[in-house]
Amino acid sequence: MGGDQESKLLGRTPSSCKGYKDGNGGSPHSAAVSLSFAKTWASLTVFVSFILITILSGVIISGFDVVVFTDRLSSFFTTSSSSTRGTGEYNLRCSPTANATSPQKCPVSHYPSRPIQPDTEYTTACPEYFRWIHEDLRPWRDTGITREAIESRKSLAHFRLVVYKGKAYLEQFHRAWQTRDVFTLWGILQLLRLYPGRVPDLEMMFCCEDLPALPKRDNRVPEGVAPPAMFHYCGHDSAFDIPFPDWSFWGWPEVNIKPWESTLRAIEQGAAKIKWNDRDRHAFWKGNPSVSWKRRNLMQCNPNKDMDWNARLYVVNWGRESSSGFKGSKLEDQCSHRYKIYVEGRAWSVSEKYILACDAATLLINPEYYDFFIRGMIPMEHYWPIRPNNKCRDIKFAVDWGNNHTFEAQTIGEEGTRFARESLSMRRVYDYMFHVLTEYAKLQKFEVTVPPAAVELCAETMACYQAGDHDGKVKEYMMETLVKSPSRWLPCSMPPAYQPQELQDFLQKKQSISRQLEMWEAEYWDRINPNNKNASI
Ligand SMILES: *[C@@H]1O[C@H](CO)[C@@H](O)[C@H](O)[C@H]1NC(C)=O
Ligand SMILES: *[C@@H]1O[C@H](CO)[C@@H](O)[C@H](O)[C@H]1NC(C)=O
Repeated sequence: MGGDQESKLLGRTPSSCKGYKDGNGGSPHSAAVSLSFAKTWASLTVFVSFILITILSGVIISGFDVVVFTDRLSSFFTTSSSSTRGTGEYNLRCSPTANATSPQKCPVSHYPSRPIQPDTEYTTACPEYFRWIHEDLRPWRDTGITREAIESRKSLAHFRLVVYKGKAYLEQFHRAWQTRDVFTLWGILQLLRLYPGRVPDLEMMFCCEDLPALPKRDNRVPEGVAPPAMFHYCGHDSAFDIPFPDWSFWGWPEVNIKPWESTLRAIEQGAAKIKWNDRDRHAFWKGNPSVSWKRRNLMQCNPNKDMDWNARLYVVNWGRESSSGFKGSKLEDQCSHRYKIYVEGRAWSVSEKYILACDAATLLINPEYYDFFIRGMIPMEHYWPIRPNNKCRDIKFAVDWGNNHTFEAQTIGEEGTRFARESLSMRRVYDYMFHVLTEYAKLQKFEVTVPPAAVELCAETMACYQAGDHDGKVKEYMMETLVKSPSRWLPCSMPPAYQPQELQDFLQKKQSISRQLEMWEAEYWDRINPNNKNASI
């Protein structure tokens, strides 16, 4: 499926990227690593097994917490009205007369404005990827976020969202593509319902485009002056945009993608239908290749008369899918292969979490843009890294190796799925939003005010009356994701910022895993085709 649609361009593509570009296309090869083949394969197996053991022992310790936590969560969602502290269910209070000319208003007191006393002070630790919040806000650590920083590039924002004394206010500048802005705003409102009174006063600008809005080279500021600040769905090393969960967690009606929780359940059921060993032994991808060269380029890895790269790639035509009821693009029917490929669209792609959830080993074409969670994933633990400029060869090797080492390949698939299910549960998504907004608000150097042009926004104004709904899907997805009662637990506890050395080590660890893999792959290609080392595709 395609993550991103062609839409008008507000931002420009950032030109350089550091962290994620991989080396040259040729196979790295040096005398120092020319071990015998037998030895190489043995050591790759040992290397992967070592990673697996490390993961599994981690699971035994942290798995406990997770079980306890999910139990509590499910009771939280079912017994919400029995609380003695007045933290019962919220009802959606819709006016029966609301229509296009006399719109729905927010009820005067729609949720408690003071924090709910939690049942316990006990909190679980947030996943590791939350630490990137500190990195994403680092540009403003010394200067703070000034009013100038949020106002100066206002023309690129779709909306300004203000949280003031627990309520939300919206100043909309432009409509976004499809319902991106609608479901992004809906998500923020649900956060306010989940943690009433805990989200601090803030003013945020939000851009709903594919590409980041604030390339650093176009937004230079003198030393000591705060650079412009804006939220967006993805970040890039060369842009200031602050990553925030995208709309698809609450649904994407135009392409029939339901909210994340129910999509995940459907995918898990789909994945359970065919055991890993019985699945097609190739790498699968299905989507819209026309949105980016990275995708068009991937299509070259389909089998041709000379070569089978072990990839099976299919094109989705969203126009045709839409008119045929999306029968050919159901995500839950796409777990039939042992391997699934992730490739970016114009920028990040919402497809990532659906691909991870299939119990297939994810072959992740190293991305340039990052959404809020991807930087917490580890190569060979959650995914198999693929170099963008060597993708067909890398895919062939990964699949060939995985089919010889099914336990290891299957474990990578399971760990990816576990990441999607646990580290990316809706509860964690809300916790992420809570923490990134809280840390952002701490940096604000100005007094938060509600602009005169802003209107109060609440679940009622968004859900009660829907003009131009897509077969009622907007309302349906909203009702499905409506937070029905405040949390009786605190958000997970925010991990500290990386120390510079610690961050270096973390990035180096990822790099060295990838380098190791590249060396083994070079040996593999040498053996298959000793005369053609440098062909890359
Ligand atoms: C909308 O509701 C108001 C008040 O109930 C009513 O006076 C008006 O005629 C309605 N307009 C439309 C277009 O239905
Ligand atoms: C997988 O096993 C086959 C048959 O033993 C062998 O030819 C091939 O090179 C192996 N591939 C990898 C990547 O281990």
